[in-house]
Amino acid sequence: MLDSLKQQPADALLALIKLYDADSRTDKIDLGVGVFRTETGATPVFAAIKEAEKRLVQSQDSKAYLGPEGDMGFVRALIPHIFGADHPWGDRIDGMQAPGGTGALRLAFGLAMRAGLRRMIVGSPTWPNHTQMFGEMVIESVTFNHAGPDGAADMDALRAAVAGAETGDAILLHGCCHNPTGIDYTPAQWDEIARLLADKGLLPIIDLAYQGLGQGMDEDAYGLRAVLAAVPEALVCYSCDKNFGLYRDRVGAVYVLGKDAESTGRILTNGHNLARTNWSQPPDHGAAAARIVLEDADLTKMWLDELAAMRGRMRLMREMMAAADNRVGGMDLAPLATQNGLFSILSLDKDQILKLREDHGVYMAGSGRINVAGLTKGNIENFVSALAAVVG
Ligand code: LMR
Repeated sequence: MLDSLKQQPADALLALIKLYDADSRTDKIDLGVGVFRTETGATPVFAAIKEAEKRLVQSQDSKAYLGPEGDMGFVRALIPHIFGADHPWGDRIDGMQAPGGTGALRLAFGLAMRAGLRRMIVGSPTWPNHTQMFGEMVIESVTFNHAGPDGAADMDALRAAVAGAETGDAILLHGCCHNPTGIDYTPAQWDEIARLLADKGLLPIIDLAYQGLGQGMDEDAYGLRAVLAAVPEALVCYSCDKNFGLYRDRVGAVYVLGKDAESTGRILTNGHNLARTNWSQPPDHGAAAARIVLEDADLTKMWLDELAAMRGRMRLMREMMAAADNRVGGMDLAPLATQNGLFSILSLDKDQILKLREDHGVYMAGSGRINVAGLTKGNIENFVSALAAVVG
């Protein structure tokens, strides 16, 4: 029976990690998978997390089960950072832990399906794993163009997609640091989106996987807060992979905005069922460490300062790329300075992307997506020269 299964290709993004590792060139450049890197190319554990882990090891006296909802201290300690210190929703908002952003999305999609989800509306391009999950979960999706030719969000396409939506549809939106384009909605555009979704009665599912890596913690949550202020119900999928550097520890959460506290609690019992039958309970360690950071004012400050430094480094790399604009024939690099987060898309074709890899040791996703955090003051010059060489 099992032998009837067909060979599957490796996940294209994750496969890049192995390809890069196998390359023996010392001047290779990794702009592939989305992890933050320092000026020396490292992805260190946050100092605030290291300290929290020490305290965790000393204080934890049991690893007995917590339940399908995970560490609710962690889930609730994040609420003021995501929704605002004085958020207006009270106990209409609550959540549960999930294994990373992917687990959070899987859970949110599962909740929407239980509630009768008809179709998922999503901008294109989107994170390839969104699309893979739709396929795996047999969710029909409808796409609209996310970016216009001017490098800004294509609002006309979004308006048309919302206008064409029907009862039972949901819309999946990237809260900030759009993956893969880096093109976020402006506050004015978010305000309009919030009105459109409310008028149409569409369920918003907001993927917030990069809070704090764009413009700032509050700034990156502007859209989410604007949408939640306008609609009766919403789901938020949160990841701590990047903003706590907890990637492999798989730390995430799903938040529900329900019509009232009773509804939110009831919706979450469905989430608990889904968790139980998928992973039973989420992994504890990373979430417990994040909770210790969030419960301690000094560690919280340390974490936010580290996050600000990461943001600053990525901003500098974006500005340096934009400044190289006139050196890469015909390619418009200026928008990189205004885009947000780890990613931007370069307009390169498959041959050029392959040439960059084979001839210059530059690794990027097949879509032309680069991770700007893979650039450093030491390698950016080589990258720009390699780009100029393949663009011709
Ligand atoms: C990415 O898009 O590179 C990251 O979100 C990592 C991943 O899991 O794909």
